[in-house]
Amino acid sequence: MVEPTSSQHPDYRLAAAGRESAEDERLDLLEQIYDPSSRRRRSFVQPRWRCLEVGAGRGSMAVWLAEQVGPTGRVVATDIDTRYLTRLDVPNLEVIRHSILDDPLDLLGEPFDLVCSRLMLFHLKGVQEQAIRRMVECLRPGGWLFDEDCDWGTAAPVDPAHPCYDDYQRVWRDGDWWTSRGYDKVFGQKLPALFERCGLQELRNEASTEVVRGGSPWARWWIPTLEVINELDGADEASRRGVEVMTAALADPTFWLEREVLHACWGRRAL
Ligand SMILES: C[S@@+](CC[C@H](N)C(=O)[O-])C[C@H]1O[C@@H](n2cnc3c(N)ncnc32)[C@H](O)[C@@H]1O
Repeated sequence: MVEPTSSQHPDYRLAAAGRESAEDERLDLLEQIYDPSSRRRRSFVQPRWRCLEVGAGRGSMAVWLAEQVGPTGRVVATDIDTRYLTRLDVPNLEVIRHSILDDPLDLLGEPFDLVCSRLMLFHLKGVQEQAIRRMVECLRPGGWLFDEDCDWGTAAPVDPAHPCYDDYQRVWRDGDWWTSRGYDKVFGQKLPALFERCGLQELRNEASTEVVRGGSPWARWWIPTLEVINELDGADEASRRGVEVMTAALADPTFWLEREVLHACWGRRAL
């Protein structure tokens, strides 16, 4: 592994420090939920490509990319926190501790055929375009940028007749739970416009969602995600009670929700 160069990262809110094993479990569930569609959408990856996975987390998609590019290809996985990535031992996968916002890009080596990220940009409040521009700089001419990020504000209960519906919405406020914490609750849908502003071409966007019940893997993942975000924002008693209200509903299998809208966006650097 290449040694640390990163500075402090006030931009990222879900940092694992102090809650390492809880974050490991949360990221594990995240991978189980999101990997199947991410693999399908990245199926255009070719043997021998050089790929960069930015904000790779626990690294399941970086490992998958390493399998796709084969022994003559190469994958670089970066994160500001590489504690989970350093457990991986894959010959054509290199792990580099690196912030896409702050650290020199030449640390990552030759330009890439494909640069990917997933569920990272949303958290980089106000500096998403800066991060995208830097990812574009990592591409060779004609290389692809691929990102998956969400409109998290759209994750909402669907059945007003359910006894938990009104209480949940009182806390959730149609997703303004995020807005009041300074996040853009519909960030994902802005990806094509941001990609275009950053000079990418041949843009494509695919959006998906799903209706799931309380107690499902998604709901079990969503509960700690809300709890952690709430704590990071200096929780008070009222906001903790709010999260408890949502948690109770999210554990109830008769409570149905429409998930976030997940936007996958592709764009190509000019030749
Ligand atoms: C929600 S996790 C998603 C992890 C992984 N992309 C996945 O989908 O399985 C976001 C990741 O982005 C990383 N991250 C946050 N800010 C970053 C930055 N400036 N540069 C690189 N990685 C960053 C975090 O440490 C975290 O591992």
